[in-house]
Amino acid sequence: MSETSASAPAALVVRDLQVAVDGKQILSGVSLSVPQGEVHALMGPNGAGKTSLGYAVMGHPKYQVTGGEIFWKDQTLLGMLPENRARMGLFLSLQYPTAIPGVTTVNFLRAALKGQGKSLAARDFLKLVREQMASLKMDPSFMSRYINDNFSGGEKKRMEIVQLAVLRPEMAILDETDSGLDVDALRTVAEGVNRVRSDGMGVLIITHYQRILDYIKPDQVHVMAAGRVIASGGSELVDQIEKDGYDPMLRAAGLEVNDAPAA
Ligand SMILES: Nc1ncnc2c1ncn2[C@@H]1O[C@H](COP(=O)(O)OP(=O)(O)O)[C@@H](O)[C@H]1O
Ligand SMILES: [Mg+2]
Repeated sequence: MSETSASAPAALVVRDLQVAVDGKQILSGVSLSVPQGEVHALMGPNGAGKTSLGYAVMGHPKYQVTGGEIFWKDQTLLGMLPENRARMGLFLSLQYPTAIPGVTTVNFLRAALKGQGKSLAARDFLKLVREQMASLKMDPSFMSRYINDNFSGGEKKRMEIVQLAVLRPEMAILDETDSGLDVDALRTVAEGVNRVRSDGMGVLIITHYQRILDYIKPDQVHVMAAGRVIASGGSELVDQIEKDGYDPMLRAAGLEVNDAPAA
């Protein structure tokens, strides 16, 4: 009884994807599809392979595809450079955004936009950045600070949403955008995501916990463990995870449950 919408064609299709890093198998047959304009949640315990899937979709050179396929709008992404994938409308927000001392936020955003083959008049660009920062409750002084340099965890996450709002990708993969946020920051960031996606952006939101999904309602939920998808369905999966954790799903998938207490 999933809440799959039959209307939109699948934009991102991952089929039986196998990925290795330094010769070690990390993803062992991941399949999922995200139709244009839908929000899908990707959940799962630590080490499930969620971040690796995001990197593989974006073409990170360390994440070597050893089998399966990744299609974006019916075109294979395999063998394509990350910058070309970005130009085709894909965006990945990082679980751990990197600081680039020496590069201001404004210059970073301008370069990212240019990298996508888009440009705006200087005045319009600055106005856009200023507006987006304001709606994410970021002080304008962040514009001239070096990107992510000495930003708090929450400021980095807000900055990712500013990037999303300026770059306007067709599909955004948001990796643990909720981690380290207090409840007010979580709401601000979630509202930012809802605002930018209102014009039809597809979103794959990677999260360990259900709480951001109280604000961003997913059309479908996928649960990963041990390098593959062990369950896909509607938001009832989120409720199950909130209630019982991942263990029952892991057992049902024939996976070992690690009973060690979380560090
Ligand atoms: N660059 C890497 N080098 C070595 N191992 C990696 C690398 N990236 C991921 N892994 C391993 O792949 C598995 C999945 O990691 P990850 O994708 O980060 O999981 P998740 O995001 O679900 O917590 C883990 O065992 C992790 O140690
Ligand atoms: Mg991760």
